[in-house]
Amino acid sequence: MIILGIESTAHTFGVAILDDNKVLSNEKDSYTTETGGMIPTKTADHHVEICDIVLKQALKKANKKINEVDLIAFSQGPGIGHCLRIGAIFARSLSLLLNKPLIGVNHCIAHLEIGRLEGAKNPILLYASGANTQIIAYDGGKYRIFGETLDTGVGNFLDSFGRDIGLGFPAGPGIDKLAEKGKKYIQLPYSVKGMDVSFAGMHTFLRNKVIGKQKVEDICYSVQETAFAMLLEVAERAMAHCDKKELVLGGGVACNTRLKEMSKIMCKERGAKCFIPENQYLVDNAAMIGLTGYLMYKAGNETPIKNSEIRSYERTDDVVVNWRN
Ligand code: FE2
Repeated sequence: MIILGIESTAHTFGVAILDDNKVLSNEKDSYTTETGGMIPTKTADHHVEICDIVLKQALKKANKKINEVDLIAFSQGPGIGHCLRIGAIFARSLSLLLNKPLIGVNHCIAHLEIGRLEGAKNPILLYASGANTQIIAYDGGKYRIFGETLDTGVGNFLDSFGRDIGLGFPAGPGIDKLAEKGKKYIQLPYSVKGMDVSFAGMHTFLRNKVIGKQKVEDICYSVQETAFAMLLEVAERAMAHCDKKELVLGGGVACNTRLKEMSKIMCKERGAKCFIPENQYLVDNAAMIGLTGYLMYKAGNETPIKNSEIRSYERTDDVVVNWRN
């Protein structure tokens, strides 16, 4: 079966072609800025401008024709309404034109499913991206959120902090590079509340007490050490609580070299396996949407056009999971 996956929850517009669970192509174009953040309307304009180009690239790379596609999978939520709508219209149009079934996919669950393609059987997912920061695991017939951010996603926090120190969007790679040269650890607010984390207090503290008063390299180093320790404390506790021996990383922030390193150390210390998909599958990508759509369709799911509305606020644990036993 040939699956066409479409991703458009935020700054990335992606199209992937899969043959069952084998990824044939995984193309994308992401909205970026030199200074300032992501403006939803401009991001949606970007997606409109490049959607057909990305589709053509994906088909060419997969050596497939559009009429060979058997199933269209798209990110139905959660995400930015402006962006989700472009992907949904694109998916619905293709489904109607080609007369092929449509399947709406939860973006957060897709990050976990692509991790299982790496060999993880029953993992805890540390999903660290711009808008989303969640610890997810399959338990009792559902993907459940064991911990999450109480305010901003870790990536949005890093982007906002990055803007404060003059970096463009996304700021994560710049912070990662600067942090490598940091030597001095600056004590920052460490906010783990039960199984949840919070970044707003650290950001306020950075703005009021640290930025402009300390070396930027040391600040980036301290931000990474503190924020990632918070994430891994909660992830480790979820692993212990659920008795799971596998950790999967997902989300754009998981491309960070220090987060990868700290995750491997934590897993090694507790005798667990750490699965880190290659960067093209960590960031927002259409391959994970195509794969999850395929798994869902095989289990008998389909999304008729009338139910294909975007779901900006869909929660991971709202999704009925009938494709796992
Ligand atoms: Fe994501």
